[in-house]
Amino acid sequence: MVDIEQINPRNQAALRAWWEVGRAATADRPGNPWPAWEQTRVSLPADNPEGAVTVLAAIDGREMVGAGLLMRPLRDNLHSATVDAYVRPDRTREGIGRRIVDELEVVAAGDGRRTLHGEVFVPPGATGTGPEGFAEALGYDIASREAIRELAVADYLQRHDRLVDAAAAAAAYRIVTFDTVCPEQHVASFGRLLGMLFDEIPLGDLDLQASAWTPERIRDAEQRQVGIGRHVLTALAIAPDGSVAGSSDVRVNETDTAHGQVGITIVDPDHRGHRLGLALKVATHDLALATYPGLLAVATSNAEVNAHMNAVNEALGYRTIETLLELQKQL
Ligand SMILES: CC(C)(COP(=O)(O)OP(=O)(O)OC[C@H]1O[C@@H](n2cnc3c(N)ncnc32)[C@H](O)[C@@H]1OP(=O)(O)O)[C@@H](O)C(=O)NCCC(=O)NCCS
Repeated sequence: MVDIEQINPRNQAALRAWWEVGRAATADRPGNPWPAWEQTRVSLPADNPEGAVTVLAAIDGREMVGAGLLMRPLRDNLHSATVDAYVRPDRTREGIGRRIVDELEVVAAGDGRRTLHGEVFVPPGATGTGPEGFAEALGYDIASREAIRELAVADYLQRHDRLVDAAAAAAAYRIVTFDTVCPEQHVASFGRLLGMLFDEIPLGDLDLQASAWTPERIRDAEQRQVGIGRHVLTALAIAPDGSVAGSSDVRVNETDTAHGQVGITIVDPDHRGHRLGLALKVATHDLALATYPGLLAVATSNAEVNAHMNAVNEALGYRTIETLLELQKQL
């Protein structure tokens, strides 16, 4: 008899068992799909001003066999929530995944969330895979397709001189870099740029709306990252008039400084066509390497239709390792 229970992420023994289920369920994926235990141990229980989490476990006797996570955004898109489900590979096809998602949907609906999002990862271009079958059986549609790409730092270094030459086309802009905490003189303008994000990135059919990033919201989000040991290594492009025209970041967790993850990249539509995307990415990757000389690989994900971003990533040396299907269900 399998029970579905909420667990308190501050209960470390339960959280560790939960983390092990997720690690086992993602072990066959390429790249670095599951965080280090030390990262989960610190980040899941920590307060997050951007989102509230509910952690679920499927328990059979004394063993945890399934894991679920619901994330409810608190500062924007209050109509939505994100669901994740993982089942230990030796216990799939018993209905455990369905029961976890059903329970996550009950919690989401109870909080007035009517649009649910989820993600499944499949080999590049594959169709008819198990995770897709699961998503379909539970009534989730594919709202967007993204490519997960990974950059081997050795490949990047080989191309570095040519990339720096190409980025010189952005010389009219000043590049400012920082670790996580934005310099005060740029924070308001940076917030204006972040507010454009959901209007500017290709979202497919995803039901997500743009929202305001006040300086207070930026400062709260920064403090959360500082608190969980995540370094958001950021570059801003400053236009001649002093405004922030573009930004990009690479995130590195203190618990695993061999791997980075690209966060948000955005160039203001008024400033496109000056190779700012490339210049910003070169700046963040150089900063990440200077800060963490042991860095081996950086991962990123972008909509397959996002031609400009994909061209920049290919120039840097990123290679596709997986396809990410963004799922959506209206309750
Ligand atoms: C996807 C996953 C959660 C499924 O868990 P599960 O407990 O096996 O799922 P269930 O037994 O509840 O399956 C429910 C239905 O989904 C469909 N389904 C599940 N796995 C499938 C597969 N491999 N192929 C085809 N259909 C599948 C079936 O219709 C199934 O019903 P059935 O077994 O009666 O035919 C599990 O395989 C897993 O942890 N994968 C890695 C993480 C992941 O991809 N999570 C999903 C994104 S949130």
